[in-house]
Parts: sequence; structure tokens; C-alpha cells
Amino acid sequence: MKAAEIRNTFLKFFESKGHQIVASSPVVPGDDPTLLFTNAGMNQFKDVFLGQDKRPYSRATTAQKCIRAGGKHNDLDNVGYTARHHTFFEMLGNFSFGDYFKKDAISFAWELLTEHFKLPKDKLWVTVYSEDDEAYEIWNKQVGVPAERIVRIGDNKGGRYMSDNFWMMGDTGPCGPCTEIFFDHGADIPGGPPGSPDEDGDRYIEIWNNVFMQFNRTEDGVMHPLPKPSVDTGMGLERIAAVLQHVHSNYEIDTFVALLAAAKAAVDGASAGDCDKDSASLKVIADHIRACSFTIVDGVIPGNEGRGYVLRRIARRAIRHGYKLGARTPFFHKIVAELVNQMGEAYPELRQAQGRVVEVLKQEEERFFQTIANGMEILEAALSGLTGASRQLDGETAFKLHDTYGFPVDLTADVCRERGVTVDQAGFDAAMTRQREQARAAGKFKMQQGLEYTGAATTFHGYEHLVTETATVTAVYVDGASVAQAQAGDDVVVVLDHTPFYAESGGQAGDSGELRNHTTRVAVEDTLKIQADVFGHHGRVLEGTVKVGDVFKAQIHAEARARTVRNHSATHLMHKALREVLGAHVQQKGSLVNAERTRFDFAHNAPMTAEEIRKVEAIVNAEILANADAQAEVMALDDAQKSGAMMLFGEKYGDTVRVLSIGSSKELCGGTHVRRTGDIGLFKIVSESGVAAGIRRVEAITGDNALHYLQSLESTLGAVAGTLKAAPNEVELRVHSVLDQVRSLEKELAAAKSKLASAQGDELLAQAVDVKGLKVLAATLVGADAKTLRETMDKLKDKLKTAAIVLAAVDGDKVQLAAGVTADSTAKVKAGELVNFVAQQVGGKGGGKPDLAMAGGTDAKALPAALASVQGWVGERL
Ligand code: ALA
Repeated sequence: MKAAEIRNTFLKFFESKGHQIVASSPVVPGDDPTLLFTNAGMNQFKDVFLGQDKRPYSRATTAQKCIRAGGKHNDLDNVGYTARHHTFFEMLGNFSFGDYFKKDAISFAWELLTEHFKLPKDKLWVTVYSEDDEAYEIWNKQVGVPAERIVRIGDNKGGRYMSDNFWMMGDTGPCGPCTEIFFDHGADIPGGPPGSPDEDGDRYIEIWNNVFMQFNRTEDGVMHPLPKPSVDTGMGLERIAAVLQHVHSNYEIDTFVALLAAAKAAVDGASAGDCDKDSASLKVIADHIRACSFTIVDGVIPGNEGRGYVLRRIARRAIRHGYKLGARTPFFHKIVAELVNQMGEAYPELRQAQGRVVEVLKQEEERFFQTIANGMEILEAALSGLTGASRQLDGETAFKLHDTYGFPVDLTADVCRERGVTVDQAGFDAAMTRQREQARAAGKFKMQQGLEYTGAATTFHGYEHLVTETATVTAVYVDGASVAQAQAGDDVVVVLDHTPFYAESGGQAGDSGELRNHTTRVAVEDTLKIQADVFGHHGRVLEGTVKVGDVFKAQIHAEARARTVRNHSATHLMHKALREVLGAHVQQKGSLVNAERTRFDFAHNAPMTAEEIRKVEAIVNAEILANADAQAEVMALDDAQKSGAMMLFGEKYGDTVRVLSIGSSKELCGGTHVRRTGDIGLFKIVSESGVAAGIRRVEAITGDNALHYLQSLESTLGAVAGTLKAAPNEVELRVHSVLDQVRSLEKELAAAKSKLASAQGDELLAQAVDVKGLKVLAATLVGADAKTLRETMDKLKDKLKTAAIVLAAVDGDKVQLAAGVTADSTAKVKAGELVNFVAQQVGGKGGGKPDLAMAGGTDAKALPAALASVQGWVGERL
């Protein structure tokens, strides 16, 4: 049975048992910052298990894309070296939300495995949680699995409920005891039954986990009973396919055979010569292309943090293995096509994003191959300097390669091993430790540079107020050092105990404004955080002095702030609209909001069309016209998640967060916003561009900025209209008609020129001189262009029959030349040489065929003499 058929049989079986078939959720979980990647089929139903979400069905079944390459469930390092681990795999699952429980779950599983998949009963083993007598009894008494093939497993992982048979989604969330079904691949495969010392071998493979969801684990480790006991199961498609296709490794199933072949072809195509096809490396590549492609499909881009970092690690690990096999140029992205062949039907989003996936991977590969090439050069130089019997690469060099050049340590080790060189590991570790210490020291130093502060935190009043009368100075800095007092003319950073100034964060620029009392004035240009809750007001003392304890009226520039909040609120609405128009893969990758504009970067594969831009503008402006309230609410992170607020993975959110609801958008945000959407005025996108592979940037403006923009467009249009002597709404028509006129004039001009030239041509016939039977003519054509030169040349050749001709046209200093020789004479005189001979004399060069050649020059003054020399030159060749 092919993998596709197994997937289908599974879903249809559970559909026949009253389950709703639900599509896989993305591998990047929507709004769950507790989760790096979707790691199980139950993720998308987490809230249903917790009783916080309701679905119209109480039974569901899915084939879910999963990634286990980070977070609680991480199989990355096993990939390639066992028969059954993957970074990406498909999990087939059935779920009961407070509907059936242990008895039905177990009998469904048994029925599917033994009656539909027809697995021999005596090859199946099961494990149960040691305290779960109920599950044990069901297996033993009702299903009839003999006691010797039922293994009880207790808390074998070092803590209460820490067990192979107690499943948790993460450190928090739904969990419960589970029963696992194993398939015995036979005595010729090494490995022991579950619970035995050799259980990690590949003989007894867990194929299906049935979890009896009973608790919600909270951060404090407390297990809260779920509202209703539920069922969550997961069967790895690749593992069951191996069983049903009678192979002992997932890498031998149909889908992987195809991917391995594609991986081999891609590596072969990129390698310098024959390479040893180490199968572990090919397996790593075949596995990793799936994880990489599916994460990119869902909007992840290789980067240095969060999911982007995991993607980069996986991609680079695959490339490393390709390199090991001999690949020296990008190969990895070439496997995407076969992956689409294999999985594009079950997951159409993959096919749709194919171009983007290839592009993103290719760029990452190009970069990494460059890194490898640079590192290899340094390594080679170091290795060639080694002498003696026990050769060793010093730890410093190995460390420098890793730290400065990003050259992977394991690659250094591999290369050294191949050359019979050892690496000074102790030296490497010492360099690493030293670097860490230095970084720590630098951190401290930076803190001093970056303003050391031990006073009270700043209270921010800027959501409600634009001014406060009683801001008290808690610290003053000049030139990065704390000072007792700053004078007029000093550039200062002033910390206040409370302030209406917003300090730059979450993409929103800091406020500007003024601090003032009866003696002193400080112009504040920017506000930046010194520490999480300590705001530094950066500016210049205009009058008087500033010292700790001084009290100021602190007032922000209201107009600039108003522009900033319009842009910020519009950004939220635009984010929502972009997802609506382009799709849910649109994820914020960066944003900058200031008084001028909002700049928003997001994951998307193609430039936005004019129509998409207009749609986004229309949606945002409709929200503005609806003039809905904006509301900020501070709540527990958990509650915010439940409320469906958008949050960004990789952001560090505190326990309580601020949720900003504006129009139909709901996002976690600490920024300042308008009171009602109508305050935004008008929203206009002014540019759309690409910033990196798979990342687009939109810039937009609002309010009076949008008005000024439109006014300036209008005045440009007005000026154009004035010049064209047309009304603004007739400009387009008028431009077309002017262009038409230009085109017809051009045609007329060309005709006139050619007529003129041929008239001149006739006159020129008389100037041809007979040199040893060949007519030689060298002349200037007034007002001719290249085309006319050629046409005239043809006519003159026709008429003169046996001739060598040079024609020139002059435009300012520039000279155009054409040389022609009739076919009967090209053996002696070559047009290419002739034209060059003349061109050289007028500061140019050229060339062409023996019968016609063109050239240009830049010295028109030299032309008459150059033309006069033609006759002699031709004469010498006859
Ligand atoms: N959620 C369970 C697992 O992933 C079924 O094993």
C-alpha cells in the first residue's frame, strides 16, 4: 500500500466511525507562542481539549504535518541514523472531545490495524501506563492481547508523570496516560521489546500512540483535570507505511525512495567528482528537505532566531551532508520538485509555494557554500602549515573558524579526520570559555556605556496623557556618564520618574518634545529605553541646568505623536487586511512606525499586484470609515491567547500583556493608538518592494501625511496638465495622442531622411573614382542616421557594381561610419578593415562582415582627412 493510500484508508476508516475529516493545520502554529512548531495532530485542538473552544463535531480525524526539531519533542540529531526518526513527518490521528474514551479508542485501533491493514496479531505489542489498569484490562480481556505482549511502563523519566506512557504536548497544556502499539519487525533486526534495555533498536517500532487526555498541566506543574476525558492518537504515517510495505526502515517506503533518488541526483549534479554515497547523509538530506520546505511554505525564513534559526540549522545540516558527499555548489533546492511530486497532492499549499521555497533555499545555500569556501581556505592554510608525526590543529584556529567565519565545528573535525589530523579540543573549549567571559564582561561594560542605572523605574502615562507637570529627574547623563548636573548646550539623557514620552519599542519610534521649568528648557529629540522600565529622554539642554531631583513639565510633540499613532493603528488594520487578501502565511517580520509612515515587512512570496494593494487599501479604509473603538486591555498571557489575539513567535511576552483591539484586529501591543479608527483619516500604501527572499515590504501613510501626498500628486498632475494644455482628467488621453503624434512624426522624419539620402546618393555617384577598375567613394551624407547609411550604401553598391564605399554621417562631434564592398571585390578589400581604418582616424573603432561594416567615432573634425585617405588605402590592396 502506497503512503497516499494508507493516509486515505485511515481517514476514511475514522470517517466511517463518525469522525469529521479535518485538514492539517500549518506547521507553524497560529497563535500559540508556547509552541515552536506543530508537533502533534492534537495541537490544533488544544483549546477544544481544554474546554475553551467548541467545534460542531465531537470526533475528528486528521493527517497532520508535524515537525520535531526543537522544543520538547526534538528528533533532529537522530535523523539519518535510525530507521524511524524524522524532523518532518505526517501524523495520522483520531480524536474524541469528551465523546468516546479508552474502550472505543483501543478497539478502533485494533480493528483498523488487524482487519483493514491486516497486520498479524502476534506481531503487535502494546504498552500501558503502569497505573492504568483499565487500559490493561481492555487490551487483555476484551481485545485478547496475551499478557506477555502487554508491557506496563511507569514514571521512567525521573519525575511524577514523567513517563514514556504519559504524553504531554509541552511543559504546559493537555496531557494524560497513553497506550502505545508496537510492531515487531522480526528477529533479524537488532533491538528489544519496549521497556527492555535494548528498546532503542529498530526491531520493535512504536507505530501508534493513543493518549487518554485527562489533565491540563499548568506552569506550576499542577495537573488540573480536564472538563471531559478525551482521546488523542497519533500514528506516524512513515512508520506504518514501512510495516505495510514490508520494509524495515522508513527510508525504504515509496515516498522516501523517490526523495533519496532525487537527493542523490542533486548531489551528483553538484559534486566535483565521484563521491561516496554514504546513505546516512542522503537520508539526512531527504528528511530535511521536507522539514525545510514545509516550514518555508508556512512563512518561515532562515534567520538567527526563533523558528528562522531552527530552519537555518536544518537546512545547513542538510547542506553539510551534501558537502560531505562531494557537492560544491547549491543542490538542496533542486530536490523540492520531487517533494512536490510526492506530496503536492495531499498538501496543495506546497505546490502553490514551490517557487518561493526553491528561491529561499537556493539563497541560503549560496550563502552557506560561500561560508564553507571561505572557511576551507583558512583551514587549508592552517593544515598545510602542520608538520611532524602527530599533527594537530590548534584550538584557536578551530575556534576562530567557528566564531568568526561561521564555519561549522563538525566540518572542521571531518576535514581534519580525513587528513589524519586531530583537533585540539581542550584548546577549542578554552577559547570558547574565554570568549564567553569576554562577552559577559563586554555586556557589563556596555551597560556602563549604555547608561548604568539603579534608581526607580519610570512610570509611563503616555497612553492617556501628553503632558505631566511633575516629572522628577532620577538621573542625568552626559557623554554616557552619570553627572550631577548638565548645562545649557549639553547633549543629555534624562531619566524621569514618570513621563508621557513613549520609549521606542515594538517598532514604534520614541516621542520627541520638551522638558521645561521656570529656569530650564530641554529639547527632547528621542526617547529610548535604558532598561525595560527605565526611559531615557535624549536631547539637548537649551537653557538653564538639569540635575537629579529637578521637577519638570514634560510635554511631548502632540502633532508628531498623533501622526505616529495613526500610522501604528493603521499598521494593525493593514496586517489583518494583508492576511485577508494574501493568505494566513503573511506574518510580520519587522515593522517601523514613526510620525512619517509605517513600514511593514512580512513573509510573502511574490510582489503584490496593483489589485491586491487596492484591496488592502479598501479594507483598511472601510475599517476607518466604520469608526470603531480602539480598546486596550491588560490581561494574562493565557487569556490573551484564548481571545485569539495575534502574537508573534519569538517575542518575549510577560505574564500579563496588553491586547489592542481596533476594528476587527486584535493584537498584542504595547504601543500608543488612536481612540477610534476614524482618527486615522485616510490610509494609503505608497510603496511595495522586496527586502529578502520571501519577504515583502509595504510602506503606507495616513492622516495629513496622506493628504499631503495626494496634494503633491495633484500638483504634479496639474503641472503636467498645464503643459499639455488639457484638463487633469484628460491628461491620459492627451498623452496618448501626443505620443501618437510623435510616432507619426518619427515615421515622416525617417521617410524624409531616406528620401534626402537617396537624392544625395545619386549626386554622389559622380564622385566615385576609378582605382584599378574598382570604384572608390568616400563621402558624408548630411542628416543621415545608421539606417539611412545602410540603405544608401545598398543603392550605391547596386549602381556602382564593383566598388568600395565609405559613407559618414555627423552629429555634433560624433561620427557614424558605414563601409561597403561589392561581393566581387571582398577578396581584396574587406569592409571591416576599411571601416576600422577610417574609424581609427576619428577616435573610434568598429567592424562587421567583409561586404558591410559599421563603426562610430568621436572626432568629427578629423573626418574629411580620414575620408580623403580611403582612396590610397584601397589602392594599396589592389
Ligand atoms: N499526541 C500524541 C503523540 O504525539 C498522540 O504521540
